[in-house]
Amino acid sequence: MSRSRVGRPSTSEWPTTPPGDPAGAAGETGPRIAVLGTGYLGATHAVCMAELGFTVIGYDVDTAKVARLSVGEVPFFEPGLEELLRKNLESGRLSFTAEIGDVATWADVHFICVGTPQRPSDGGADLTYVDAVVDALIDTGLAPGALVVGKSTVPTGTAAALAARIHAAAPDAELAWNPEFLREGFAVNDTLRPDRLVFGVMPDGAAEARLRAVYAQTIEAGTPVVVTDYATAELVKVAANAFLATKISFINAMAEICDVAGADVLELATSIGYDARIGSRFLRPGIGFGGGCLPKDIRAFQARATELGAADSLAFLAEVDAVNLRARGRAVTLTRSALGGTVDGRRLGVLGAAFKPNSDDIRDSPALDIAAALAADGALVTVYDPAAVPNARPRYPSLNYASSVREAVTGADAVLVLTEWGEFRELDPAALLSYVAGAVMVDGRHALDAARWRAAGWTYHSLGRPAAAPTEADAR
Ligand code: UDX
Repeated sequence: MSRSRVGRPSTSEWPTTPPGDPAGAAGETGPRIAVLGTGYLGATHAVCMAELGFTVIGYDVDTAKVARLSVGEVPFFEPGLEELLRKNLESGRLSFTAEIGDVATWADVHFICVGTPQRPSDGGADLTYVDAVVDALIDTGLAPGALVVGKSTVPTGTAAALAARIHAAAPDAELAWNPEFLREGFAVNDTLRPDRLVFGVMPDGAAEARLRAVYAQTIEAGTPVVVTDYATAELVKVAANAFLATKISFINAMAEICDVAGADVLELATSIGYDARIGSRFLRPGIGFGGGCLPKDIRAFQARATELGAADSLAFLAEVDAVNLRARGRAVTLTRSALGGTVDGRRLGVLGAAFKPNSDDIRDSPALDIAAALAADGALVTVYDPAAVPNARPRYPSLNYASSVREAVTGADAVLVLTEWGEFRELDPAALLSYVAGAVMVDGRHALDAARWRAAGWTYHSLGRPAAAPTEADAR
């Protein structure tokens, strides 16, 4: 695929509103957009930019991913994304390529959406993919006046270094940093209707005006915009994730205290959540956070702070991480004690494999970590998840997999709910009794109504709540 730039307005002539032209590429008037990297962030961003009316090409070195996206298949589970992908492919506004030459000189705006995985050595962010894509753009050549926009989560200082490299190779090209805050399962909504837009730009450049043109519809809808420098924009993303991780670990630390004090962490969380200064979101106790962002981001943030000589400032994040990992260990211990002290040779039905519901993502999944630890202890573990089994099976071969709740729990001595899918919340405890060998429920996510399950004859266990409702005899 190659496209000429004939008839294009120069970047300084970008309209302040995007085209929104249903005729698509034929009638394009707004900036041409390339999205570099078509993983979770990039695929969603490319689709949403096309949905906003721009002509978009998504680029990835992974030819299999490009091939699937090109025929309208989303390579991961994200509600609503596939429909929008197909709609925008059909409109002609969206296409995908594995050739950097198709996008480098073609696009006016390049969004960098490649991954920044955890470095095994020190937990810092591995910038290999960011560097590779910027080098590829520079080597192939950028269009005059192109804007490169970083969206990947990077250590602070990355944008300044990239800007210097881009400037040396293409003096009239500009870099901006525009972090992305999308949550899996809500990716389309979070991209089209974000809480805020953060633009990290150089003073006196054209980047702010150009970004305002790209996001004109979002801004008109009332989304607040923070215009700042590169370092702050980079930090906003990791600070937000560090805060969310801290909030979750705070309530899980409270669950540990509740366990030793005989208190109830759910009632505690509800009560403190009513304080508007605290708020109830991200205060759900359980087996803790996982996924491709929070665990890696708090480690990369600490690694960067250490490089900058400010390790003490983020020392508390090591404790946040430790509390989080301890929650997984506590779930294993709870299961053991629920089964009389050992799981060796016992059958366990595990409901949930994804790191959270409405996702097939198993990266750093607490559910699978716990299931694998129980299998290593000698348990015969069978896992069911509505979406994540195909991803889990090759990564966790010590586990058995089922294609339904019923299959997973049949003959089980205990059932564990480790991802709070709606399907599990709605289970009928009385109906499930006829399949299990033992009516023992370990609810790792506080997803079930404890009283209802107990009333149906189950022993119900969870972290941070009394093993059974206190009786008058306990009070005496
Ligand atoms: C997160 C951030 O929310 C998002 O803004 C950022 O851009 C990427 O990282 P995501 O990884 O999709 O998004 O998941 P999120 O919904 O934040 O959940 C993260 C983990 O925390 C999950 O494992 C979830 O189960 C857990 N969690 C969340 C809790 O244990 N308790 C809570 O109260 C909330």
